[in-house]
Amino acid sequence: MARINDNYLKLKAGYLFPEIGRRVRTFAEANPQAKIIRLGIGDVTRPLPPAIIEAFHQAVNDLGRRESFHGYGPEQGYGFLIDVLIDKVYQPLGVKLHGGEIFISDGSKCDTANILDIFDLGNKVALGDPVYPVYNDTNVMVGRSGEADEKGYYQGLVYMPCLEKNNFLPEFPREKADLIYLCFPNNPTGATASKEILKKWVDFALATDALLLFDAAYEAFIVDPALPRSIYEVPGAERCAIEFRSFSKTAGFTGVRCAFTVIPDGVTAKDVTGEKIQLNKLWNRRQSTKFNGVSYPVQKAAAAVYSEQGWSQVKEIIGYYMENARIIRSGLNQAGLTVYGGENAPYLWLKTVGGMSSWDFFDKLLGECHVVGTPGSGFGPSGEGFFRLSAFGDRDNIEEAVARICKNLC
Ligand code: MLT
Repeated sequence: MARINDNYLKLKAGYLFPEIGRRVRTFAEANPQAKIIRLGIGDVTRPLPPAIIEAFHQAVNDLGRRESFHGYGPEQGYGFLIDVLIDKVYQPLGVKLHGGEIFISDGSKCDTANILDIFDLGNKVALGDPVYPVYNDTNVMVGRSGEADEKGYYQGLVYMPCLEKNNFLPEFPREKADLIYLCFPNNPTGATASKEILKKWVDFALATDALLLFDAAYEAFIVDPALPRSIYEVPGAERCAIEFRSFSKTAGFTGVRCAFTVIPDGVTAKDVTGEKIQLNKLWNRRQSTKFNGVSYPVQKAAAAVYSEQGWSQVKEIIGYYMENARIIRSGLNQAGLTVYGGENAPYLWLKTVGGMSSWDFFDKLLGECHVVGTPGSGFGPSGEGFFRLSAFGDRDNIEEAVARICKNLC
């Protein structure tokens, strides 16, 4: 009989969002009259803007004509999209990249998980607490950890608590780490990192021979012009950081699927003999073997995000979500709740009322307000006592949710 990967049995519960979905379905079945507002998973609600739809349609039409038909594309992504990213995303930040350093994919969730393929199991991994659960769970799945303790910390992984007293910013890992995950603007807390803070991380990584896995999936929501959008705005990062970017939240592609990972030529790690190996060569090998690229129409639609029209339409939608975030933040603040995030990020991180546990607060909000959020403890033990709300809802729903929460809880 085949043998399973026993590491999967170490995972404590189902993945957070399906677990929330299960609880909400049970509640909805028992309360069919309840009008449930979902601000849990960070899924977008605004439709794709016209310039993107237009490019999408045109690309589909291309596939219907012999002369413009496309079969397999390059596993790394089409040059037309990579060039747009170099010119429109990185060049304005003063970051110089070439085509071989950018890899188009179908999502940052997959990329942050799949990147583990190219690293030895012996690497020590450091990650935030609370954290996007994918970083934690995928390391458990590949066998980089032991069992979880009673709090939920897995043996062998190094956790960097992100606490209220530190503005939810992680401190340097307490033991030597080889791979360090960072996410700014942060999911789940909405915390941001200044250039000075990112510089400290880059200096630390260079000094300790660590590699930063920098998740910038939410950079488009930065409003403050002083905040960095890419780790490569910090000199030296091109030698110690891999950056993950996504069209999901930026341009409403959660259902369309497109993202990219940047691995500059200078980013290396050692092989068994101690020789330095360029990581983009390994990632290229991995992607060419296990991935056949993102579909042509999706990449055409993604490129249209950075056309003049596309970008102005996308920015309007981002502004809409950020106005949602402002409405949630100010409404709940006025009602006396302590609310973090939501200023340069689409997530709000609330303190539960009366010291309630995160899941009790989840049940209370669902049961009394028919509003779904995400329990902070689902992101890690230090998230206990906190609760995440997503600003990606419809405006009417956001206003209604804030009104219900204020009425019932305050
Ligand atoms: C979230 O709600 O944390 C995100 O939508 C999850 C994801 O991007 O995979």
